[in-house]
Amino acid sequence: MRLQPDCIHEFVAGTSERTLLLLHGTGGNERDLISLGRNLDPSASLLSPRGNVLENGMPRFFRRLAEGVFDLEDLKMRTNELANFVTAAAQRYSINMKRIVAVGYSNGANIAASMLLLRPEILSAAILFRAMVPLAPETQQNLSLVRVWMGAGTFDPIVPASDSTRLAELLRGAGAEVTIRFFEGGHGLTHADVDAAQEWLMTLK
Ligand code: MLT
Repeated sequence: MRLQPDCIHEFVAGTSERTLLLLHGTGGNERDLISLGRNLDPSASLLSPRGNVLENGMPRFFRRLAEGVFDLEDLKMRTNELANFVTAAAQRYSINMKRIVAVGYSNGANIAASMLLLRPEILSAAILFRAMVPLAPETQQNLSLVRVWMGAGTFDPIVPASDSTRLAELLRGAGAEVTIRFFEGGHGLTHADVDAAQEWLMTLK
């Protein structure tokens, strides 16, 4: 059976009701974050799609015009496409739609943030590593039941600290409970990020 909309992906069944939606960075693929997902939650199911856009052969979740400058029409379209994929995958794999936690890194974190802002029914929580403000939503969503953890790098050359803070404020403004942590480092993921995100995830129901 093919999922509609279709998307290359991995699904690893877990033993709990939670599913981590793993969203890789630019140039990654559906296998990239599987071990990170297992580290974060050994019992969750893992759903890991590959971004449908290619930039010089590198998979991404949406088009960009330059680094940090997004093609907003494509971003909106791809956000809906990904949300519809998750809904189709939930039916196919018997995923509990109320227990989906996005785990995104860089480009993957940006589309997860976009999904929170445009399709809030999909995610109950999100872990965003090195995310920036993806877009300014036209209508404000009610994210009062959503919890978000953000990990930012103090010397990130791609995401300025002010941009991470702006995203945290945007999500808080919509009612989400947001934890933002700054780690000494750049755009790359650190062990400290993963340890802190894991600890936070354990506090979720
Ligand atoms: C993006 O394009 O989403 C951000 O610039 C991060 C990245 O380089 O992928």
